[in-house]
Amino acid sequence: MYHSKINGLGYYVPENVVTNDDLSKIMDTSDEWIQERTGIKERRHIIRGQDTTTSMGVKAAKIAIERSGLTTDEIDFIVFATISPDYYFPGPGVALQQELGLRTVGALDIRNQCSGFIYALSVADQFIKTGMYKNVLVVASELQSIGLDMTNRGRSVSVIFGDGAGAVVLSREEDITKGILSTHLHSEGEHAKELAVLAPGMGGRWVTDIIAENNPDDESYYPYMNGQFVFKNAVVRFSEVINEGLKANNLEVSDIDMLIPHQANLRISQFIQQRFKLSDDQVFNNIQKYGNTTAASIPIALTEAWEQGRIKEGDTIVLAAFGSGFTWASAIIKW
Ligand code: ACO
Repeated sequence: MYHSKINGLGYYVPENVVTNDDLSKIMDTSDEWIQERTGIKERRHIIRGQDTTTSMGVKAAKIAIERSGLTTDEIDFIVFATISPDYYFPGPGVALQQELGLRTVGALDIRNQCSGFIYALSVADQFIKTGMYKNVLVVASELQSIGLDMTNRGRSVSVIFGDGAGAVVLSREEDITKGILSTHLHSEGEHAKELAVLAPGMGGRWVTDIIAENNPDDESYYPYMNGQFVFKNAVVRFSEVINEGLKANNLEVSDIDMLIPHQANLRISQFIQQRFKLSDDQVFNNIQKYGNTTAASIPIALTEAWEQGRIKEGDTIVLAAFGSGFTWASAIIKW
C-alpha cells in the first residue's frame, strides 16, 4: 500500500482581465452588486482563437510537470476534469495527451462540475495507492466565458464565472503518514436542475456559442442557477464534508493549517470560515481576481497559496468543494 503526494503544481489564466465595470457596459449590473454578493472584482476571459479548454490545461500541466522534476516519459496516466470540453466527444484528456506528447498513456475525463478536481484527485490517488501507476497528471480546466448568457437575462450567473486551468502531478509516496490522507465524495442528483445547463437533451447537439447564437430565445442553452438554494446547500455540504474528512483522520479543526475551498463565492467561503472559527491565515481565497472557475478553482488556488509560501512541508491541507449535481467532496492532505 502506497500513498500519493502532490509533487508539482501549476496554473494558467488568460491575460484578458474583465472587471465588473466592463460587465456593466454590456448588461445591467454594477461593481457594487457583484462585490457585495460574491466578492468578485474581476475574472479572466479568453480571447477567442487564443485559448481553449485543452490549451489552458496544457499550459498549467507543463508548469506542474516541470516543478515535479519528472519528464513527460514518467507520467503514467491523465485525469482531466472539466464541464466545458472543447468537443462533445472526445473529452480534452486525449487532446492534452497529444499536445504534451505523452506516448499512449490512458486519459480519463471527469465531469463533476465544481467538485471535479477533488473527484479527479481521488481517482488518481486510488490508482497510485493500488500500485497501478506511479505518476498521474491531474488537470482541471474551464472555458466558461463563451457559454455564458451575457445579457440581462443571464446576469445573475454570468458575472460569477471565469476561465482558467490548474494541474498537479500526483506521485507515489512510500511514507504513509504523508500525502493524501483521505478523500470523501458525495452526490445528490435530486437537485441536478438547480444548477445546470439543460440543453441539449437526448438527440440534441452539444452546447456551443454558435448553437446558443442560433437559439437566442432558448434559455436552456445557458447555465441556470437557483442561487439562494445553491447557497443554502453549499454551506451545509461544505461543513459536512470538511468534518467528515477531519473525523476520518482523527483531526480537529485546530489541526487545519490551510483550507482551500472551491472558489464558488466569497460569501460562502467566509460563512465556512466563521462556522469553523478559522483565522484568515487558515483559509485561502482568490475568487476576487478570477471569479468562479468551476473545476479549475481549487488547483489554481492551491498553486497560488503554495507559490506565496502559505503551504509548508508537514502542513495539514483541506480541500473542499460543492457544485452542480449536486456533488461535494473533500481531500485531507499532509503536505
Ligand atoms: N447585477 C445586478 N442585479 C442583478 C444581477 C446582477 N448581475 N443579477 C441579478 N440581479 C437582480 C435580480 O434581477 C433581482 O432583482 P429584483 O429583486 O428586482 O427581482 C435582484 O438582483 C436579486 O436577485 P437574486 O437572484 O435574488 O440575487 P441573490 O441575492 O440571490 O444573489 C447570487 C445571487 C449571488 C447568485 C446568490 O444567490 C448566491 O450567492 N448564490 C450562491 C450560489 C453561488 O455562489 N454559486 C456560485 C456558482 S455555483 C458553485 O460554484 C457551487
